[in-house]
Amino acid sequence: MNKSGPAKILIIDDEDRNVKLLSALLRAEGYATLSAANGRDGLAEALLKKPDLILLDVMMAEMDGFETVAWLKGDSRTKNVPVIMVSALDDRDSKMRSLEFGAEDFLSKPIDRAELKARVRNLLRLKEYSDLLIDHNRILEETVRERTEQLATAYRDTVLTLVRAAEHKDESTGHHVRRISYYCRVLAEAMKQSTSFQDAIFNASPMHDIGKIGIPDHVLLKTSGFTPAEWLVMRTHCALGASILATGTSPYTHMGAEIALNHHECWDGSGYPNGLKAATIPLSARIMQICDVYDALRSQRPYKPALTHARAVEIITHGDGRTLPAHFDPVALGCFTRDAGRFAAIYAEHVDA
Ligand SMILES: [Fe+2]
Repeated sequence: MNKSGPAKILIIDDEDRNVKLLSALLRAEGYATLSAANGRDGLAEALLKKPDLILLDVMMAEMDGFETVAWLKGDSRTKNVPVIMVSALDDRDSKMRSLEFGAEDFLSKPIDRAELKARVRNLLRLKEYSDLLIDHNRILEETVRERTEQLATAYRDTVLTLVRAAEHKDESTGHHVRRISYYCRVLAEAMKQSTSFQDAIFNASPMHDIGKIGIPDHVLLKTSGFTPAEWLVMRTHCALGASILATGTSPYTHMGAEIALNHHECWDGSGYPNGLKAATIPLSARIMQICDVYDALRSQRPYKPALTHARAVEIITHGDGRTLPAHFDPVALGCFTRDAGRFAAIYAEHVDA
């Protein structure tokens, strides 16, 4: 409904005399009128001028009223505009056909002024309510979209706060967790995962080592090799991380817990903490594992230098005795190999200071 000014009524009729008569009657009631001389022009006018109501003649030489109303009701831009079919044919069949084609009402010629006035008023009132409902739904959808975005931002803030807390203890830097996010999203995309999965892994993967917050400093910060007992302690960071994240209710903490627990599992069953094998390891963790290994190879550690991209790819695809291709999900490995250039670009863009 037009928010300002009188309601706009489009008259589609190929007889000029009828157009003039209907226009005069409607203008006398305070409405604004538009007209078109055939169905085709009527459709164009309806799209362009967005009338509040259409009076449509049934019998027209070019594109009759039935065909025109079918088009109007089949187009999302015009389907909510009420249509009154007007015809000299006062038979039941024409009325039924009009209603079946989607018209809201029917008027017989000669036009009865009081009947025209009542039907137009009723349908305009209906249109007003329908417009209000559409507006209301649009506002609701907009509000839901805004709230969802706010919630997602709050989730992301929580994730980053948690990760920053863990960074105070760990050798990992902000650059490492940022790179992990990007690698994981690239690999999930290459593996044809949904955009919601890609978004979840982007936000969940930085929490993979959150459990290290619970590892005693004398083990976590040790720069020389671990004793077997210390290794056992280090390995608890998976279960610790999962238990920290398990109570979270967001999709990010849910996937974060899954990744934290399983990111050191290996496809061939040689990983920890549970020695899971192949597809029993959650997909998110299989993606995370290959990204984590790539980043660890590229990064300098107290016990090793940073490797070049080419060397890191060679170790992942051919093995070096410690890392083996059998450790990785073959599909993830194939996608990694094909998209390795994107990993190099992410590392270069977020390189450690
Ligand atoms: Fe880890």
